[in-house]
Amino acid sequence: WPVHAPYIKAINELKKVRGAAILAHNYQTPEIFHGVSDIVGDSLQLAKEATKVDADIIIQCGVHFMAETSKLLNPEKTVLIPDMKAGCSLASSITGADVRALKAAYPGVPVVAYVNTSADVKAEVDICCTSSNAVQVVESLGTDRVIFLPDQYLARWVATQTEVDIIAWKGACEVHERFTGEELRDYKASDPSIKVIAHPECPPDVIAEADYTGSTAGIIDWVVENGQGKVLMVTECSMADNVAASAPDVEFVRPCNLCPHMKRITLPKILDTLLTVEGEVLIAQEMAKRARASVEAMVNLNN
Ligand code: 13P
Ligand code: SF4
Repeated sequence: WPVHAPYIKAINELKKVRGAAILAHNYQTPEIFHGVSDIVGDSLQLAKEATKVDADIIIQCGVHFMAETSKLLNPEKTVLIPDMKAGCSLASSITGADVRALKAAYPGVPVVAYVNTSADVKAEVDICCTSSNAVQVVESLGTDRVIFLPDQYLARWVATQTEVDIIAWKGACEVHERFTGEELRDYKASDPSIKVIAHPECPPDVIAEADYTGSTAGIIDWVVENGQGKVLMVTECSMADNVAASAPDVEFVRPCNLCPHMKRITLPKILDTLLTVEGEVLIAQEMAKRARASVEAMVNLNN
C-alpha cells in the first residue's frame, strides 16, 4: 500500500523506541492488521494474548471495550486507544444500573456478559464470554437459567445450542443487524455454490441461511481450512481483505457493511498516539477489581 508505507515505517520504528505492542482486532483495515500489528485476533484471542504482552505500553486497535479489557488484564501497563470515541452499539445498549435492575428482577439467576460491554457492566456480572466461548460459559454455571446480555441475537443463537434457559437483553450490533435473510437467499439464488459464513451477532433469519456460524476467528479458520469457490462472510467488511492472502482460492462475495467505530482507528491516529502517548484508558479501582474478576473467570475456564 504505497500511500500507507511512510506511516507503516514510522509506526513500526517508533513502537520499538516506545516499547509498545500493537493489538489489532480482525476488523481493522489491512494496512493496520498486516502492516503494524504485533497481535491480531478475535475478542477472546486479544483478551488472552493481552496477558502475555511484554511491552509496557499496549496500543489497542479496536473499540473502547477491547481496550478496557486489556487494561483490566494488565493493570500495571499503559493501555492507549488511538480514538477514545471508538465505541460499540452493543456496549452502549446497557449500563451497570440496568444490570442491577435485571438482577433484582431475577434474584439468584447468574449473569453472563458478552465482552462487548463497558467495565461498569462487567463489574456487575458473574462471568464474561465472547462469541467463541458463549455456549461453554453459559453451561459452566451449572444452572437451568442464565441472564445473557447485551446482544439479543447472540443470546438467541446460544439458546439454540444449549438446554439452559436464556433471559436476554435487547441490545444489537448495528453492523450485523443490517444483514437480512432475504438478501442472502437472493445471493444463493443467483449462485447456489456460494457458501454463507455468519457471525452469531446476526439475526436468526440470517443464521438460518449460514453454512457455518462462529466468531471472527472461527470464520477466518473456516475460510482458510475449507475455502474455495465463492464465500460470503456475513460480518464486517474488512475481514475479507484481511483473510484474502491466506485463502487464495476463495472469491469473496460481499455486501459490504463497515463498523464505523472500528474504522475510527487509522494509521495517522496510531502514529499520533505513539508520538504523544495520549489516549490512556483508565478504570476506577473498585470497578476494575470487580470487572477483572468476571473477565478472569472467563479466561480461566480453559486454563
Ligand atoms: P469477535 O469476538 O467474534 O471478534 O467479535 C467481536 C465483535 O465486535 C464482532 O462484531
Ligand atoms: Fe460493536 Fe458491532 Fe462494531 Fe463489533 S461490529 S464493535 S459489535 S458495533
